Amino acid sequence: MKVKLENISKTYFSLRGKVKALSEINLEIRDREFLVILGPSGCGKTTLLNLIAGIEKPSSGEIYFGEKLVFSDKKNVFVSPKERNIAMVFQNYALYPHMSVFENIAFPLRIQKMDKNIIKKEVEKVAEMLNIKGLLQARPYELSGGEKQRVAIARALVRKPNLFLLDEPLSNLDAQLRLTARTELKTLQKNLKITTIYVTHDQIEAMSLGERIVVMNKGKIEQIGTPEEVYHKPENLFVAKFIGTTPINFFVVEVKSEQSNIYGYLGELKIEVPEEKLHLVKDQKIGIGIRPEDIKTEVEKEDFILTVKVNIIESLGKEYLLHTTYKNYDIKILTKNKFPEKSLIKAGFSKKNLYFFSPE
Ligand SMILES: Nc1ncnc2c1ncn2[C@@H]1O[C@H](COP(=O)(O)OP(=O)(O)OP(=O)(O)O)[C@@H](O)[C@H]1O
Ligand SMILES: [Mg+2]
Repeated sequence: MKVKLENISKTYFSLRGKVKALSEINLEIRDREFLVILGPSGCGKTTLLNLIAGIEKPSSGEIYFGEKLVFSDKKNVFVSPKERNIAMVFQNYALYPHMSVFENIAFPLRIQKMDKNIIKKEVEKVAEMLNIKGLLQARPYELSGGEKQRVAIARALVRKPNLFLLDEPLSNLDAQLRLTARTELKTLQKNLKITTIYVTHDQIEAMSLGERIVVMNKGKIEQIGTPEEVYHKPENLFVAKFIGTTPINFFVVEVKSEQSNIYGYLGELKIEVPEEKLHLVKDQKIGIGIRPEDIKTEVEKEDFILTVKVNIIESLGKEYLLHTTYKNYDIKILTKNKFPEKSLIKAGFSKKNLYFFSPE
């Protein structure tokens, strides 16, 4: 089922005063798509899921499930959560502590007053799928974080929902378990072919799971795109900083025109500003970004080569993150090579890896 949000806004009125949690969200989720919502804490991710699920009402806008209008403030339409047939997995799993795993998973079917034998069959089927058949008689307190998470997913899926909503379901798991859970979830979604919206603030998780990623900030959408698009073609500095293993290097530099070209001056480096980026120049300045992984320490035919001073070295296991300086610019470099601290080294990068942004 496809889902469409049109001009969705949500304002909370609380003791703190007015909080604008979402403003003017326009988004279309394709049928069977795995869509990831990515953004920092407080940007409105959970609010967005709650509005889609019908747990809360938008302040304005319209929501469609397929062709069906499920919310409109103007037309006074509100389809209740029960009628939306959505499955949601909450961050804290929200299992019923006094019920066995079997009863937790069976709960949504019991509410539907389904036949006892069918319930047993359906619960066993979904438990098999999630590899928790051996746990059906256990109580939630006996389970590890990873097992609880599987039970929560099983309970969400047992009803065969139209839409699967997941709110940071892996954030309580250790790194190893997250990795396996991620792969399993992706396979599961492929097999079940259920349209899925997955919320996370972890960009690596977003990149590995999402067919498309929606990058959010302060209640607004900054960019929608495939993992490749948000990485290689970030539309603004926020997206460029948020995506990538280590944050992008960002410099504000002076621009000068020379003959018919415009150049940005990073110390002694003279960087031509492409014509289609000239609109970003403001008060004779422009922002230039380069990712730490795009700066090479074995320089060959890079367009720009400079000498940097290595100040601090962080070991990341397979690689090192060098904190270096060039003139008064701090430059981070990701490299496989180890250098002594305080040494001067050559570093280089290519024109094609540069990003241009507005200077502010
Ligand atoms: N019931 C509420 N009353 C008032 N403000 C709220 C309420 N719920 C959320 N907010 C505010 O709305 C904004 C968005 O909250 P939301 O929970 O959607 O963020 P989030 O992106 O899910 O963050 P996190 O990653 O920390 O879970 C925040 O500023 C939050 O304080
Ligand atoms: Mg949240």
